[in-house]
Amino acid sequence: GDGNELSGENDESLPQWEPSGEYDPSINLLVLVNKEYPVDENYVPADLVKLNYCAADRSAEWQVMTREAADAFNKMAGDALAEGYEIVATTAYRSYNFQNYLYNSYVEREGQAAADTFSARPGKSEHQTGLAADVTSASVNYRLTSDFGDTEEGKWLAENCYKYGFIMRYQKGKEDITGYIYEPWHVRYVGQKAAKEIWERDLTLEEYLVDYASDDTRNVGQKLIEQELEKIPNEKVRTIAKEHIFDIRNNNKRDFRF
Ligand code: DAL
Ligand code: ZN
Repeated sequence: GDGNELSGENDESLPQWEPSGEYDPSINLLVLVNKEYPVDENYVPADLVKLNYCAADRSAEWQVMTREAADAFNKMAGDALAEGYEIVATTAYRSYNFQNYLYNSYVEREGQAAADTFSARPGKSEHQTGLAADVTSASVNYRLTSDFGDTEEGKWLAENCYKYGFIMRYQKGKEDITGYIYEPWHVRYVGQKAAKEIWERDLTLEEYLVDYASDDTRNVGQKLIEQELEKIPNEKVRTIAKEHIFDIRNNNKRDFRF
C-alpha cells in the first residue's frame, strides 16, 4: 500500500467477541477531544453500559462506557484476569458537570497550572465521550499514579490493549502533542483496526488523524465513518446517523496544530 491504506476488515489474529447488543452507528470511534477540540457541553453518549471490572470504592455512576467500548473493556479485563492480572476501572464516562467538579477540585488543591497538566477542563475531556476509561490495580492500591505503568498489570495493559481496540492515550514523551502528562492508567477505545495501526506506528491519536488526513485532506476517521454509514440499509436511519455524527473533519481536524 502507500502507507495510508487501512489494513483489512477483520484481523482474525485479534481476539473476537460477541456484541452484547446493537451499537449506535452515530458514535465516531475516532472522535478527537483534547485541549483544542471540545465536545459539546450537552453531549451524553447513547447506550452507556455498566463495566464488569470496576474499583469497588468508586461511584458506579461513572463506571459505564458506550456499549461497544464496554464490551471491549469487559473482554480485555476478563482476559487479563484469566492471565492473573486484575485491572479495574475507576471512572470511565464522566459527564460535563462531573468533569467540572473534578477539575475545580484539582485547581483548588494544586492550582490551575498544575491541574491543567493532568485534568481536562469541562467539555475537553474524552471521558465525556464514553470511550475512555481510567484503570488501576491492587498493586498500586487502586490509585491513579504513574507507578501503575511499572506494575505487571500496567505493562500487560500497555502491551495488549490494542488487541481489544484500546490505545494508551497519554504516552511518555508525547506530552507536547497530547497536552497531558504520562497517564498509564488512561485508555481510549478507537476500535481494533485503528488501535492496531496506532500501536504499530507508536502514535498518539492526534498524530494518527493528522497523518492519515494528509493524503487527501480528509482524515481516516471521517472516511471510515462515511464508509460505515453508507452500509446502513435503512435510508431514514442512515440520514439520522449522518446528521448526528461528530464531524471530525470540520470540528476536530481543521486548523489542528502541534
Ligand atoms: N486526565 C484526562 C486528561 C482527563 O481529565 O480527561
Ligand atoms: Zn482518564
